[in-house]
Amino acid sequence: NDVEAASLSRTLALIKPDAMKANHKDEIISKIKENGFTIVQEQQLLLSKEKASMFYKEHDGKPFYQDLTNWMSSAPIYALILEKQDAIQSWRDLMGPTDSNKARDTEPNSIRALFGTDGSQNATHGSDSQTSADREIALIFGEESSVEKEESRVVQVQ
Ligand code: PPS
Repeated sequence: NDVEAASLSRTLALIKPDAMKANHKDEIISKIKENGFTIVQEQQLLLSKEKASMFYKEHDGKPFYQDLTNWMSSAPIYALILEKQDAIQSWRDLMGPTDSNKARDTEPNSIRALFGTDGSQNATHGSDSQTSADREIALIFGEESSVEKEESRVVQVQ
Protein backbone atom coordinates (compact mmCIF):
# COMPACT_ATOMS: atom_id res chain seq x y z
CA ASN A 1 0.00 0.00 0.00
CA ASP A 2 2.73 2.43 -0.98
CA VAL A 3 0.58 5.41 -1.81
CA GLU A 4 2.12 8.84 -1.58
CA ALA A 5 0.82 12.30 -2.36
CA ALA A 6 2.30 13.93 -5.43
CA SER A 7 1.87 17.63 -5.87
CA LEU A 8 0.95 18.66 -9.38
CA SER A 9 1.33 22.21 -10.58
CA ARG A 10 0.35 24.14 -13.67
CA THR A 11 2.18 26.40 -16.07
CA LEU A 12 1.30 28.36 -19.16
CA ALA A 13 2.92 27.45 -22.48
CA LEU A 14 2.62 29.53 -25.63
CA ILE A 15 3.57 28.43 -29.13
CA LYS A 16 4.69 31.71 -30.70
CA PRO A 17 3.97 33.05 -34.21
CA ASP A 18 7.26 31.80 -35.70
CA ALA A 19 6.60 28.18 -34.73
CA MET A 20 2.94 28.45 -35.75
CA LYS A 21 3.88 29.78 -39.22
CA ALA A 22 6.52 27.09 -39.64
CA ASN A 23 3.90 24.44 -38.83
CA HIS A 24 5.66 23.12 -35.73
CA LYS A 25 2.58 23.13 -33.49
CA ASP A 26 1.86 19.40 -33.69
CA GLU A 27 5.50 18.39 -33.17
CA ILE A 28 5.72 20.65 -30.12
CA ILE A 29 2.50 19.21 -28.68
CA SER A 30 3.85 15.68 -29.24
CA LYS A 31 6.97 16.55 -27.26
CA ILE A 32 4.82 18.01 -24.48
CA LYS A 33 2.84 14.75 -24.22
CA GLU A 34 5.95 12.53 -24.50
CA ASN A 35 7.40 14.40 -21.55
CA GLY A 36 4.48 13.54 -19.29
CA PHE A 37 2.52 16.75 -19.21
CA THR A 38 -1.26 16.74 -19.08
CA ILE A 39 -2.85 19.38 -21.30
CA VAL A 40 -5.57 20.89 -19.11
CA GLN A 41 -6.82 23.45 -21.64
CA GLU A 42 -5.63 24.59 -25.06
CA GLN A 43 -6.69 27.28 -27.48
CA GLN A 44 -5.49 29.06 -30.58
CA LEU A 45 -5.83 32.83 -30.30
CA LEU A 46 -4.73 36.15 -31.70
CA LEU A 47 -3.58 38.45 -28.90
CA SER A 48 -4.47 42.13 -29.08
CA LYS A 49 -1.53 44.51 -28.76
CA GLU A 50 -3.02 45.59 -25.42
CA LYS A 51 -3.18 42.03 -24.09
CA ALA A 52 0.34 41.24 -25.32
CA SER A 53 1.55 44.37 -23.51
CA MET A 54 -0.17 43.24 -20.30
CA PHE A 55 1.20 39.73 -20.70
CA TYR A 56 4.80 41.00 -20.94
CA LYS A 57 4.41 43.97 -18.59
CA GLU A 58 7.40 42.93 -16.45
CA HIS A 59 9.56 43.77 -19.50
CA ASP A 60 8.02 47.22 -20.03
CA GLY A 61 10.91 49.65 -20.58
CA LYS A 62 13.34 47.06 -21.93
CA PRO A 63 14.67 47.71 -25.46
CA PHE A 64 12.85 44.71 -26.94
CA TYR A 65 9.44 45.36 -25.33
CA GLN A 66 7.75 47.06 -28.31
CA ASP A 67 9.11 44.60 -30.88
CA LEU A 68 8.15 41.65 -28.68
CA THR A 69 4.58 42.80 -28.03
CA ASN A 70 4.05 43.86 -31.66
CA TRP A 71 5.28 40.49 -32.86
CA MET A 72 3.28 38.46 -30.34
CA SER A 73 0.09 40.24 -31.43
CA SER A 74 0.85 40.03 -35.16
CA ALA A 75 -0.33 36.47 -35.85
CA PRO A 76 -2.06 33.54 -34.13
CA ILE A 77 -0.45 31.77 -31.21
CA TYR A 78 -1.41 28.53 -29.44
CA ALA A 79 -1.84 28.58 -25.66
CA LEU A 80 -1.80 25.54 -23.35
CA ILE A 81 -2.23 25.03 -19.63
CA LEU A 82 0.20 22.23 -18.75
CA GLU A 83 0.04 20.13 -15.60
CA LYS A 84 2.77 17.95 -14.14
CA GLN A 85 4.90 17.62 -11.01
CA ASP A 86 7.10 20.72 -10.97
CA ALA A 87 5.46 21.89 -14.21
CA ILE A 88 7.11 25.31 -14.39
CA GLN A 89 10.71 24.11 -14.20
CA SER A 90 9.98 20.98 -16.20
CA TRP A 91 8.53 22.99 -19.13
CA ARG A 92 11.40 25.49 -18.99
CA ASP A 93 13.88 22.59 -19.13
CA LEU A 94 12.08 21.11 -22.14
CA MET A 95 12.08 24.51 -23.92
CA GLY A 96 15.81 25.09 -23.34
CA PRO A 97 17.63 28.45 -23.22
CA THR A 98 15.79 31.63 -24.33
CA ASP A 99 18.07 32.19 -27.35
CA SER A 100 17.57 29.41 -29.90
CA ASN A 101 21.15 29.81 -31.15
CA LYS A 102 22.48 29.21 -27.65
CA ALA A 103 20.00 26.36 -27.24
CA ARG A 104 21.44 24.60 -30.30
CA ASP A 105 24.92 24.84 -28.73
CA THR A 106 23.96 23.62 -25.27
CA GLU A 107 20.64 21.74 -25.41
CA PRO A 108 20.30 20.47 -29.00
CA ASN A 109 17.19 18.41 -28.28
CA SER A 110 15.30 21.24 -26.63
CA ILE A 111 12.23 22.78 -28.25
CA ARG A 112 13.89 26.16 -28.82
CA ALA A 113 16.93 24.47 -30.38
CA LEU A 114 14.77 22.43 -32.72
CA PHE A 115 12.02 24.91 -33.62
CA GLY A 116 13.25 28.46 -32.87
CA THR A 117 15.41 30.90 -34.81
CA ASP A 118 17.23 33.29 -32.47
CA GLY A 119 16.86 35.35 -29.29
CA SER A 120 13.55 36.93 -30.21
CA GLN A 121 11.88 34.33 -32.44
CA ASN A 122 12.28 31.39 -30.09
CA ALA A 123 9.20 29.20 -30.74
CA THR A 124 7.73 29.00 -27.23
CA HIS A 125 7.09 30.78 -23.94
CA GLY A 126 6.87 29.35 -20.44
CA SER A 127 5.93 30.99 -17.16
CA ASP A 128 8.92 31.69 -14.90
CA SER A 129 7.25 31.26 -11.48
CA GLN A 130 4.00 30.08 -9.91
CA THR A 131 2.93 33.72 -9.50
CA SER A 132 3.57 34.37 -13.20
CA ALA A 133 1.83 31.15 -14.19
CA ASP A 134 -1.31 32.04 -12.22
CA ARG A 135 -1.35 35.55 -13.69
CA GLU A 136 -0.68 34.41 -17.26
CA ILE A 137 -3.26 31.59 -17.14
CA ALA A 138 -5.86 34.04 -15.86
CA LEU A 139 -4.98 36.55 -18.59
CA ILE A 140 -5.17 34.04 -21.43
CA PHE A 141 -7.89 31.63 -20.27
CA GLY A 142 -9.84 33.78 -17.79
CA GLU A 143 -9.86 34.04 -14.01
CA GLU A 144 -11.96 30.91 -13.60
CA SER A 145 -9.43 28.47 -15.02
CA SER A 146 -6.61 29.67 -12.77
CA VAL A 147 -8.48 28.79 -9.60
CA GLU A 148 -10.69 25.93 -10.72
CA LYS A 149 -10.05 22.46 -9.35
CA GLU A 150 -7.44 23.70 -6.90
CA GLU A 151 -7.94 20.43 -4.99
CA SER A 152 -6.92 18.39 -8.06
CA ARG A 153 -3.36 19.63 -7.65
CA VAL A 154 -2.88 16.99 -4.97
CA VAL A 155 -3.51 13.49 -6.26
CA GLN A 156 -2.62 10.01 -5.13
CA VAL A 157 -0.10 8.06 -7.17
CA GLN A 158 1.37 4.57 -6.76
S1 PPS B 1 15.29 39.37 -19.32
O1 PPS B 1 15.58 40.76 -19.67
O2 PPS B 1 16.46 38.62 -18.91
O3 PPS B 1 14.17 39.24 -18.39
O4 PPS B 1 14.83 38.78 -20.68
P1 PPS B 1 14.63 37.27 -21.03
O5 PPS B 1 14.14 36.52 -19.83
O6 PPS B 1 15.86 36.79 -21.69
O7 PPS B 1 13.49 37.38 -22.08
C1 PPS B 1 12.21 37.79 -21.71
C2 PPS B 1 11.30 37.61 -22.89
O8 PPS B 1 11.61 38.57 -23.89
C3 PPS B 1 12.01 37.92 -25.08
N1 PPS B 1 13.17 38.61 -25.62
C4 PPS B 1 13.20 39.28 -26.77
N2 PPS B 1 12.25 39.49 -27.67
C5 PPS B 1 12.57 40.22 -28.74
N3 PPS B 1 13.79 40.72 -28.97
C6 PPS B 1 14.77 40.53 -28.09
N4 PPS B 1 15.99 41.08 -28.32
C7 PPS B 1 14.50 39.79 -26.92
N5 PPS B 1 15.20 39.42 -25.84
C8 PPS B 1 14.38 38.71 -25.07
C9 PPS B 1 12.35 36.52 -24.73
O9 PPS B 1 12.10 35.65 -25.80
C10 PPS B 1 11.44 36.26 -23.57
O10 PPS B 1 10.15 35.91 -24.05
P2 PPS B 1 9.30 34.76 -23.34
O11 PPS B 1 8.06 34.69 -24.13
O12 PPS B 1 9.07 35.20 -21.92
O13 PPS B 1 10.12 33.52 -23.44
